[in-house]
Amino acid sequence: MEVVIVGSEAAVGEIVADAVCELLEVVPEPALGLATGSSPLPVYRELVRRHQRGLSFAAVTPYMLDEYLGLPDGHPQQYRAFLRREFTDQVGITPDRLLGPDGGSDRPDDACRAYDALIRANGGIDLQILGIGTDGHIGFNEPASSLASRTRLKTLQEQTRRDNARFFDGDLDAVPRHVMTQGVGTILESRHIVLIATGLPKAASIAKAVEGPVTAMIPASALQLHRHVTIVLDEPAASELTLADYFKATYRQKPKWQGL
Ligand code: GLP
Repeated sequence: MEVVIVGSEAAVGEIVADAVCELLEVVPEPALGLATGSSPLPVYRELVRRHQRGLSFAAVTPYMLDEYLGLPDGHPQQYRAFLRREFTDQVGITPDRLLGPDGGSDRPDDACRAYDALIRANGGIDLQILGIGTDGHIGFNEPASSLASRTRLKTLQEQTRRDNARFFDGDLDAVPRHVMTQGVGTILESRHIVLIATGLPKAASIAKAVEGPVTAMIPASALQLHRHVTIVLDEPAASELTLADYFKATYRQKPKWQGL
């Protein structure tokens, strides 16, 4: 795993936006996996800025990582609505091009399977942006998720619902209990995975994911099995890593032409 520790959220945005730009240059029709939550917001802001200066997303197909089940269409916390508002609408990607599981489906199991099959049939995801939960989840793969899991329905654990209540005006009862998420196995098929974590509340789960054993209790630890993962952190999120100084020195010594 490559671990990059930077000084600010803006630097997180720039470094990951650079990786996305490089993808756009190299792959003619790139598949870009998008996460929600606050962690990727600096990246989306930076990409929107670059779009305003001419960067085109015309050839990009964006893929959602997960979705709440049963939020009414137009609800601002639907992940589809979040991604449109924070990113895709702002870079000229029309709503029909944003692919994801149908959170309003009356056959949600089938909708999950169909979405998983679609990702594969389209050739897979080139670059997947991820955040991490304070309990070590990726997407909505909660602790004890199968590390081979595919896109499916999950029930949220209490801690995740509490963490996400801030997006629902602090109202825990308003946070859905059920979600659709790409599985850990689905995520591991992405060709490059960039996980972003900022702030002290993420320090413990980052240390377990990067330096702990691979365990279903910390689903992000499964990323240790992937051959191209980059973990981008600010100093507080990196503060429990025993190898933090080593990671900083290694990244500084990296040749300038070599991106993430
Ligand atoms: C939700 C999302 C995850 C995200 C996590 C962390 O649970 N399903 O994909 O990584 O929140 O969110 P934040 O970045 O806001 O801390």
